[in-house]
Amino acid sequence: MRYRQLGSSDLEVSEIALGAWLTYSGGVELDQTRACTEAAFEAGINFFDTANVYGRGAAEAAWGEILSKRPRDSYILATKVWGQMSDDPDDRGLSAAQIAKQIDASLARLQTDHVDLYQAHRFDPDVAIEETIEALQQVVAAGKARYLGFSEWTPEQIEAALEIAGPDLFVSSQPQYSMLWQAPEAEVFPLSAANGISQIVWSPLAQGLLTGKYRPGEAPPPDSRAASDSMSGFIGRLMTDANLEAVDRLRPLADEAGLTLVQLALAWVLRRPEVAAAIVGASRPEQVHANAAASAIDLSPDLLAAIDEALGDAPVKDAALAPNARAGVKRR
Ligand SMILES: NC(=O)c1ccc[n+]([C@@H]2O[C@H](COP(=O)([O-])OP(=O)(O)OC[C@H]3O[C@@H](n4cnc5c(N)ncnc54)[C@H](OP(=O)(O)O)[C@@H]3O)[C@@H](O)[C@H]2O)c1
Repeated sequence: MRYRQLGSSDLEVSEIALGAWLTYSGGVELDQTRACTEAAFEAGINFFDTANVYGRGAAEAAWGEILSKRPRDSYILATKVWGQMSDDPDDRGLSAAQIAKQIDASLARLQTDHVDLYQAHRFDPDVAIEETIEALQQVVAAGKARYLGFSEWTPEQIEAALEIAGPDLFVSSQPQYSMLWQAPEAEVFPLSAANGISQIVWSPLAQGLLTGKYRPGEAPPPDSRAASDSMSGFIGRLMTDANLEAVDRLRPLADEAGLTLVQLALAWVLRRPEVAAAIVGASRPEQVHANAAASAIDLSPDLLAAIDEALGDAPVKDAALAPNARAGVKRR
C-alpha cells in the first residue's frame, strides 16, 4: 500500500481508503463489517471514512465497536456532519448548535475522544458561513478533531470560506470522482490544490459499475448493490446503457494491461496528484483486498488516452450536475 500526505496536514493516508456509507450502516451485518475492516488493516489501509448520517449513527456505532479495540494511533478516522439525524427536519445542517451537538454524538458512537478529520458533508446555505466556520474551528480547538474538510462544496463556497479563515482551514475536499464522474476536475481540483487541500474521492468505482459486474441488458447479480431494494436507488442513476457500454469498452484495455477493471478504475483516479485517497466501499473482505491491490499502479500515457477514447461521451464533466451545485452562500 502506498501512502499520501493529506493536504497540508501531517497525516499520511493510504491511497485506498475504506468507506462506510451503504455497507456498514446496515447493508451488511456487524460480523461482515468487522471482516471487511480486518481485511483493510491486513491490506495496509489506515484511512476510514464515515458520517453521522450513515444509518443515522449506525455506521459510526459499528466502527466504534470494531475500531475501538485497536490502538487509536493505528488508524486515521474521518467523519462528517450535516445530514438530518432524526425525524425532526431541523435536526440537520451546520449551525453552531448542531455542530457542537453532533461532534459529541459522533465521538460517543465512535468510542473515541477525537476524529482525525471532521468534514462538512455539504454546505449549509441557511446558516451564515462565519457561524459554520467558527463552530468547526471550535471543534478543533477543543481537541475533538485534528483537521477539517468539506464535501461537495462549490468553488464559490470554498473561496468564501478561505477568504474568511485562510488556506489552513481545510485539508481535504470529498467530491464524487470516477472515470464516469469527472465533474470536480475542472475547478475544485485546482482551487483546492492552490490552497493545500487534497481530494479524497467518493464512489471511485461508480458504486460498483466500474468493477464490470453489471452488463448491458442483463439483470444485476443477486448479491449486488443494484439488486438490493434499499440501495438500488443510489446506483440506479448510474446504471445507464451509455455507462454500461463504456465499461464494456474498458474490458479489453484492462486485459491488455494485465489489470482487473477494479485496478484500472482506481489507478485512474489515483493518477492525479491532487487525489490523496480513493474511498471505496466493500461488502466483502475479498473486495477490500481486490481494491487495495490497485495501490501503486501507474497507468501509461498511451493507456490513459485509450481509456479516454473508450469512455467516449459517458463521463459527466459538468460541475453544475454535482450535488448542492446551486446553493448560495449566506453571510453575517
Ligand atoms: N461525501 C459524500 O457525499 C459521499 C457520498 C457517497 C459515498 N461517500 C463515501 O465514499 C465511500 C465509497 O462509496 P461507494 O460505496 O459508493 O464506493 P464504490 O467503491 O464506488 O462502490 C462500492 C460498492 O461497489 C462494490 N464493490 C466494491 N469493490 C468491489 C470489488 N472489488 N468487486 C466487486 N464489487 C465491488 C460493492 O457493492 P456490492 O458488493 O454491494 O455490489 C461496494 O459496496 C462511502 O462508503 C463513503 O465513505 C461519500
